[in-house]
Amino acid sequence: MENLEKEIRSTFIQLFNKEPLMVRSPGRINLIGEHTDYNGGFVMPAAIDKDIVFAIAPSDNEECSVFSLKFDEKININLSSPERREHPAWANFLLGVLYQMVNEGMEVKPFHCVFGGEVPLGAGLSSSAALECGFAFSLNELFQLGIPKIRLVKMAQWAEHNYVGVKCGIMDQFASVMGKKGHVILLDCRSLEYSYSPIDLKDYSIILCDTKVKHSLVDSEYNTRRSECETGVSILRKYYPQVESLRDAKMTMLETHKDEFPGKVYDRCVYIVAEIQRVQEASRDLQTNDLIAFGRKMYETHDGLSRLYEVSCKELDFLVNEAKKFKTVLGARMMGGGFGGCTINIVKKDAADQYILHLTKVYYDAFAIRMPSYKVSIREGTSVLSRSTATII
Ligand code: GLA
Repeated sequence: MENLEKEIRSTFIQLFNKEPLMVRSPGRINLIGEHTDYNGGFVMPAAIDKDIVFAIAPSDNEECSVFSLKFDEKININLSSPERREHPAWANFLLGVLYQMVNEGMEVKPFHCVFGGEVPLGAGLSSSAALECGFAFSLNELFQLGIPKIRLVKMAQWAEHNYVGVKCGIMDQFASVMGKKGHVILLDCRSLEYSYSPIDLKDYSIILCDTKVKHSLVDSEYNTRRSECETGVSILRKYYPQVESLRDAKMTMLETHKDEFPGKVYDRCVYIVAEIQRVQEASRDLQTNDLIAFGRKMYETHDGLSRLYEVSCKELDFLVNEAKKFKTVLGARMMGGGFGGCTINIVKKDAADQYILHLTKVYYDAFAIRMPSYKVSIREGTSVLSRSTATII
């Protein structure tokens, strides 16, 4: 991270010859509670030690620009109309945030920004949330806009819905901004009430295994899942008007009206209702330090995501099935939206290297893909790295 910070800062200084404000915004993991956020359910995410770093300062003239170090590409921005663009795709994560600020009459003046990161793209670690949240946070700090954190979270989510086109829930943006070192967040996505729980995995560590695949279905299928869940709710509401989201649904309600659910809608709803329940039980497992029970639930989640919710893929299923062969692994499952990305694994510390070696080999034999893996630790959410007096206006 220090190197990345140095690189972003020095690129900024070379380009603009002044000291920037430096901000970092992290990716996230999610221990359990997948696809529950947009169903009013619970999730258990945490911010991790993989960041996108921003350097930003006011411009000395009317020019306003953002430079992506990774794509070696710059966009110029017209502050009076930060509209959505066809290219480059990365710009929309930022323009969607900016649009809301400008549209609400906030005092955003011309600026220059350089960013780059170490959150792997398409790995299900929410590089997109880190980008939206870090940018919103940077502008808020630079121009002292006074936007509360939770509003930054919602602005980032709005950008994803309206400029990127994914009708995501709130988990990723919430975790990126609100993360706390050494803690997982138990978030109620209906009320947005949350609590932090210290995570003590004792002899175990969290390992992410990256399938390196991102099937093209991911965005369209995500939106389809969301509307399938809404179809389920509208059927239940005919009989149970109190059901506003699948959070309010019971398994018995689904069973009673099973025949009325079209296509895959029944299976989708069964998974969500079970998963919302499972997160609450898993949270108790963590409190009582029953890591074995917790790990078992991770496998159950994967099974539901794969068979009922159908957002897994052969690469993810392969890695989870391999994990099951290891007594030193408490649990594993796909993480995030699905159709590729990472599995999250709870692995005995002293067996981790051997486990990774094994998975890397068998994964390569099966798919001819080299599988990166990451040992993650849990960090603070989006924060200022350094301020220069020149950038405080
Ligand atoms: C993506 C979305 C989140 C959440 C997960 C699945 O990461 O951005 O809102 O729905 O998928 O849990």
